[in-house]
Amino acid sequence: MNVRPYKPEDTATHARLFTETVHSSTQLTIRGNNLRLGSRSSRHGTLAQAFQRADCFVAEHDSEIVGFATLEPDGHLDYIYAHRRFQRQGVASALFQRIEQEAISRGVARIFAEASTTARPFFEHVGFRMIASQRIKHRGISFINFRMEKFVS
Ligand SMILES: CC(C)(COP(=O)(O)OP(=O)(O)OC[C@H]1O[C@@H](n2cnc3c(N)ncnc32)[C@H](O)[C@@H]1OP(=O)(O)O)[C@@H](O)C(=O)NCCC(=O)NCCS
Repeated sequence: MNVRPYKPEDTATHARLFTETVHSSTQLTIRGNNLRLGSRSSRHGTLAQAFQRADCFVAEHDSEIVGFATLEPDGHLDYIYAHRRFQRQGVASALFQRIEQEAISRGVARIFAEASTTARPFFEHVGFRMIASQRIKHRGISFINFRMEKFVS
């Protein structure tokens, strides 16, 4: 598997991967309004905007994008996704390793995220600790997620 920086032409593949992964997971991780499963074009727009604000990396397997992750300048890890067909195969771990290197090279000491119940074991696996749980509401649906952090150096 190869992890490389995102290129603008990856957006369409990202949007498909993102939607497929989110639809197949039991809980969504939502921070603010960044997760919107609207029309295809609005999804592209939202993701493209998110990727402009952040360092984004993609994981490729046989030239296919199988995951992606973003790191914002303040250390917020907003997105980390592995395609449903490639879960538990180390995709997110490889992406996180790259994100961690990037944070260190940028002098970002703390990476933080909001993890869903299903994603929490992954974050713990790569060394995050839970700060707090929180209940959030999105489109009338209530979710629990976990504020997690990892100090890197
Ligand atoms: C959470 C997610 C990113 C993990 O991706 P992944 O590529 O499957 O993770 P990895 O294969 O690198 O997993 C590494 C380790 O994390 C832990 N882990 C990962 N997913 C897990 C799960 N569903 N249940 C329990 N432990 C899990 C395990 O310890 C795993 O090691 P193992 O497979 O040898 O037991 C992926 O399930 C996903 O995309 N979920 C939907 C989107 C999401 O919730 N993203 C996070 C918020 S932005």
